[in-house]
Amino acid sequence: MNISNTQSLQKVLSAWNKKDLKTALVPTMGGLHAGHLSLIKIAKKYSDRVIVSIFVNPAQFALNEDFSTYPRVLDNDLILLKKEKVDLVFTPEVNDIYPDEIKKNINIGELDRILCSKTRPHFFTGVLQAVTRLFEIISPNYAIFGQKDYQQLKIIEKYSNNVKIISAPIIREKDNLAMSTRNLYLTHKERQIAPKLYQIIYKLSEGKIDKNQAIQLLEKYFRIDYLEILDADNLKKISYNSGRIIILVAVFLGKNRLIDNIILGDEKCLLLLKKLKLT
Ligand code: PAJ
Repeated sequence: MNISNTQSLQKVLSAWNKKDLKTALVPTMGGLHAGHLSLIKIAKKYSDRVIVSIFVNPAQFALNEDFSTYPRVLDNDLILLKKEKVDLVFTPEVNDIYPDEIKKNINIGELDRILCSKTRPHFFTGVLQAVTRLFEIISPNYAIFGQKDYQQLKIIEKYSNNVKIISAPIIREKDNLAMSTRNLYLTHKERQIAPKLYQIIYKLSEGKIDKNQAIQLLEKYFRIDYLEILDADNLKKISYNSGRIIILVAVFLGKNRLIDNIILGDEKCLLLLKKLKLT
């Protein structure tokens, strides 16, 4: 069922509410791929009814970014969602999400001064406005977000109020490139280079190379935006208290920007902490 009208949506939601059904929301911008579909599978485990929203959010695109060309393939998305037996697809209009003007001066705090925020300062204020508005309209019990966009996940976790946030692992292509709607923009040659990103941070995660060597390798193929090794729980500098560590990377490949990350499990985490002389 595809609904783009908030009043019709409220009717369905209140009927579900009366039956005390638990709901899970999977917010997306469409252009769906197996990564998005994996979130739906997780949503089903937590809830009785799954809602997928598709909204290409103007507030998270800067003027020089790809808002006008972002893949809008609703017919195809709806076919995929039908196959997944999603209960409701919500495709709001800009007025539904932004009944008032888009705000530019929201202070997200420290989490919005690092990593992607440096090159995309507008981005998370845009994401947060759309997501909090979706939460306000739908009031889901759960919402599922991918670890692919780790900083986004952490920011949303912080501002989610009553909605329980569930994180989902990164789904990759056969050659380990993290799936992304924007991978469609890669030329054939760029697509062949792109998997190097994961290969290099994987070597770093295995302790086979150090951060400087990783930077040198990355520079052979990409223009580096950042490569950071941080505490996975709070995205702060790692310390001897860090339980989990995350390697986060963003690079430019031609006109494209690719992001990826690896969270280190206990054993690897210890190995890296030792290397960094933090244990
Ligand atoms: P979008 O890029 O469409 O992604 C929707 C959700 O899918 C996000 O939670 C994202 O982390 C997840 N996702 C994307 N690629 C993934 C992959 N390879 N494996 C697992 N999960 C993946 O992220 C957004 O949209 C927007 O910022 C949004 C949250 C909808 C707000 O507008």
